[in-house]
Amino acid sequence: MSPKELRWGILATGKISTNFSKDILTDPSTRGVSDVSHRIAAVGSRNVESAQAFVDKLHKLDAPFDWGAKQGKLDGCKVYGSYDGVYNDPNVDAIYIGTPHVAHFDNAKSALSAGKHVLCEKPFVMKLEELDELIALAKKHNVFLMEAVWTRFQPIAYAVQEVLFSGKLGKVKRVEADFSIDFKPDGLPDSHRMIDPTLGGGSLLDLGPYPSVWAMLTLFQHPDNHRTPPNILFTHQTPYARSGVDLNSRWLLEFPGLGGVQALLTTDMGVTGGGERGAVIVCEEGDIAIEWGLSNPSRFWITPHTGKRMGLITSKTEHHHPVQGNSGMAYEADEVARCVRDGKTESERMRWEESRIVQGWFDRVRGDAAGKK
Ligand SMILES: NC(=O)c1ccc[n+]([C@@H]2O[C@H](COP(=O)([O-])OP(=O)(O)OC[C@H]3O[C@@H](n4cnc5c(N)ncnc54)[C@H](OP(=O)(O)O)[C@@H]3O)[C@@H](O)[C@H]2O)c1
Repeated sequence: MSPKELRWGILATGKISTNFSKDILTDPSTRGVSDVSHRIAAVGSRNVESAQAFVDKLHKLDAPFDWGAKQGKLDGCKVYGSYDGVYNDPNVDAIYIGTPHVAHFDNAKSALSAGKHVLCEKPFVMKLEELDELIALAKKHNVFLMEAVWTRFQPIAYAVQEVLFSGKLGKVKRVEADFSIDFKPDGLPDSHRMIDPTLGGGSLLDLGPYPSVWAMLTLFQHPDNHRTPPNILFTHQTPYARSGVDLNSRWLLEFPGLGGVQALLTTDMGVTGGGERGAVIVCEEGDIAIEWGLSNPSRFWITPHTGKRMGLITSKTEHHHPVQGNSGMAYEADEVARCVRDGKTESERMRWEESRIVQGWFDRVRGDAAGKK
């Protein structure tokens, strides 16, 4: 059977739209995929010159990103000087939204209303009510909708779950996950999307999806949790004085479905993390440590606790699960193509229910901070 080819419309020509487009132009077989493939049918920008320049660059990529152009996966790609052109293009099946956070809701609403499937960058939207409206629209139009949390579909995400859920480390006891990147905020202009409150600036909305993904994968999706939602025990935000967005955020979760296991999640845009301290999943017999860079880590370590022997694991071991043949975003695109092929409106691995939970955390952390001002 020939692979299902999904025809993408790309919204916006910024950094992440570039990364996503490059990745879906790589050869699916290099990541072991033969059942789906991707074509870029249209690109929309606020001005047509940017859209054209974006497509021109995609035609001139180096290996491994040059595969798509050579295979004709950019042939006939339309360029539009507005996002409307992409919504209304009959040759587009699914729209990738790579605009700033604050635009996601309107863009996704327009795309869903035009009957297009949607993959929307994180954070999904600015508040839970908006997400609920999008979910209702996806149901109404019977189209697929997913938040683009690429990490969930990378090989390491499955590998960590396999070790943890095997039970060989004993029961899970605690999770700490920290995604901090020093954006050097003092050197950024007021208009930068990390600084400007009107663009949804601050560390929480930009970095928060990543510690969240590891809490969701290891605790919410833990078979013993039975998909029981966690409670929030406390929240904290430190404001960045120049614009009032959050410099850092912290929130502590408690999972009653796992007997009260806690997860402490942290984001910070003024300091960079590192080494093995991305996420630590503390279990009865030992720990799993995931390397810093929680959006796209490739290594984790298992360390038995002193005096514990986890079957054959008697000393610290390193486990390497890099992405294959792309930068890590093609896997989520494959998921969209499979779900569309199978007539699904949501992904079982990135359910609306899970996006709702994480969006609810962001609302709560921001709401608590606003209440303290
Ligand atoms: N998955 C990830 O790892 C990842 C990484 C980085 C960012 N993101 C997410 O992707 C989104 C975009 O981030 P980015 O780093 O790609 O940002 P970016 O480089 O600034 O690009 C955003 C693009 O959105 C369009 N846009 C529409 N309205 C805009 C406005 N009012 N101000 C500025 N740009 C506007 C512009 O494209 P046109 O001029 O072509 O319309 C711009 O190039 C954010 O929500 C972010 O959280 C995800």
